[in-house]
This record gives sequence, structure tokens and C-alpha cells, in this order.
Amino acid sequence: MRALASNSLLALVLLALAACGRNEPPPQVAPPAPEVGARGNPAQDIDGLRRNIPITTEVTPLPMASVENFDLRRERAYPMQPPTIPHSIEGYQVDLNSNRCMLCHARNTAAQFQAIPVSVTHYMDRDDQFLAEVSPRRYFCVQCHVVQTDAKPLVGNQFRDIDTMLREERAAQAGQAHQ
Ligand code: HEC
Ligand code: HEC
Repeated sequence: MRALASNSLLALVLLALAACGRNEPPPQVAPPAPEVGARGNPAQDIDGLRRNIPITTEVTPLPMASVENFDLRRERAYPMQPPTIPHSIEGYQVDLNSNRCMLCHARNTAAQFQAIPVSVTHYMDRDDQFLAEVSPRRYFCVQCHVVQTDAKPLVGNQFRDIDTMLREERAAQAGQAHQ
């Protein structure tokens, strides 16, 4: 008899607890989904290109940058880098009938314009055979060569060229040898 009484007391207590629980907000099962950026990452920590403005907010575009036109050849970051174009190319047409770049950069006209003739690779087809004229696969110059603008870089860049890396490695080795 006593066992039954204590059992029903327990049941009552449990019922009361359950009733109290019903008034509390339901437990949060999963955290709210983060805003998703253009590349599927949380919008807040990607996208220097969008200046870290969330994808749901419209960006006011920056003023257009002007093309650098210094006529000074720039250093290449590695031997096979297509050199950047150091002059403006506005209005230079490259199509089926004419190639404005080759007016100055062809072997037989470069001297007249004091331009750098395109290198021999531009006359080679994919089987390394030399053609008389610029190879079709090197015909559309701005596929590989680009002008530079005065725009501020939107994302950081830690590129170091091979000479810098070799110098650091040799300095480190020399340091070890002295120890
Ligand atoms: C009116 C002549 C002329 C035309 C047209 C021209 N260039 Fe140039 N280019 C030059 C001269 C001259 C230089 C040497 C640097 C300077 O004076 O700007 C040069 C330099 C370059 C360089 C740098 C090469 C290096 O080794 O650093 C590249 C790349 C280049 N031009 C690409 C082009 C492309 C691509 C076009 C067409 C969209 C073009 N150029 C049209 C005259 C011309
Ligand atoms: C498929 C990519 C590609 C295309 C297209 C291309 N180039 Fe290049 N260009 C390169 C690379 C890579 C180099 C550097 C290595 C070399 O010379 O092949 C270069 C080098 C050059 C140089 C420097 C040559 C030297 O001796 O220093 C000039 C000038 C040049 N290109 C102009 C042009 C012009 C003008 C066109 C269009 C007719 C053109 N390129 C099309 C990739 C390209």
C-alpha cells in the first residue's frame, strides 16, 4: 500500500515538472543558419572583392580605375609570365581582319615603333613548329597580356618570387652552418 502511495506521489511530481516545462521556450536545437555569400561561405568573412559587404546588401561601385600608361616595362614575377602591358590599349582592335597589337609588335615592324617584337613562342604551333605569322593560339593578345590600373588591391597577396625564396633558403642554410 505504501509503495503504491509513493509511486503515485512520484508520478504527480513528474506531471507537475512537465507542466512547468511547457511554459518555457522550446530548446534551440540548431544554431540559426549563417548568411550565405556568393561562394557558399558565410558572407561576413569572405569576399574582399565585395569589400566584405554581405551578399544581401547592394554595393556602391568604386570609381573606375585608370589604366597605367608609363611606357616602362615591368619586372616579371617568373620567367614564363606573360609581361604586363605598360601602355594603354584603348581602342586597339583585334579581330579576324586586323590585329592592332601586331602593327607594332610583329618582327618586321617592331623596330620602326621601338616596340618589343613578340617572342619566338608566339610563332610556334602546338607541335612546336615555327610559322611565318603569329600562331592562332597567340593571336588574341589580351587573353594573356593585361594592362595594369592604379586600383588599390582588394585582397592581400603574399606572393614571393623564386629569387627571394632561394635567397632566404641560402641565408638560413648559411646560418645553420655557422652554428
Ligand atoms: C603603337 C604601337 C603599339 C601598339 C599598337 C601596341 N604596342 Fe605594346 N608596346 C609598344 C612599345 C613601344 C612598347 C615598349 C614599352 C613602351 O614604350 O610602352 C610596348 C610594350 C608592350 C609589352 C611589354 C613587353 C615586355 O617585355 O615588358 C606588352 C606585353 C605589349 N606591349 C602588349 C601589347 C598588346 C597586347 C597590344 C594590343 C592590345 C599592344 N601591345 C599594342 C608599342 C605598341
Ligand atoms: C597564350 C598566351 C599568350 C598570348 C595569346 C600572347 N602572348 Fe605574348 N607572351 C606570352 C608569354 C608566356 C610570354 C613570356 C614568355 C615567352 O616569351 O613566351 C610572352 C611574351 C611577350 C612579349 C615579350 C617578348 C620578349 O621577347 O620579351 C611581347 C612583346 C608579347 N608577348 C606580345 C604579345 C602580343 C602582341 C600578342 C598578340 C599578338 C601576344 N603576346 C599573345 C603569352 C602570350
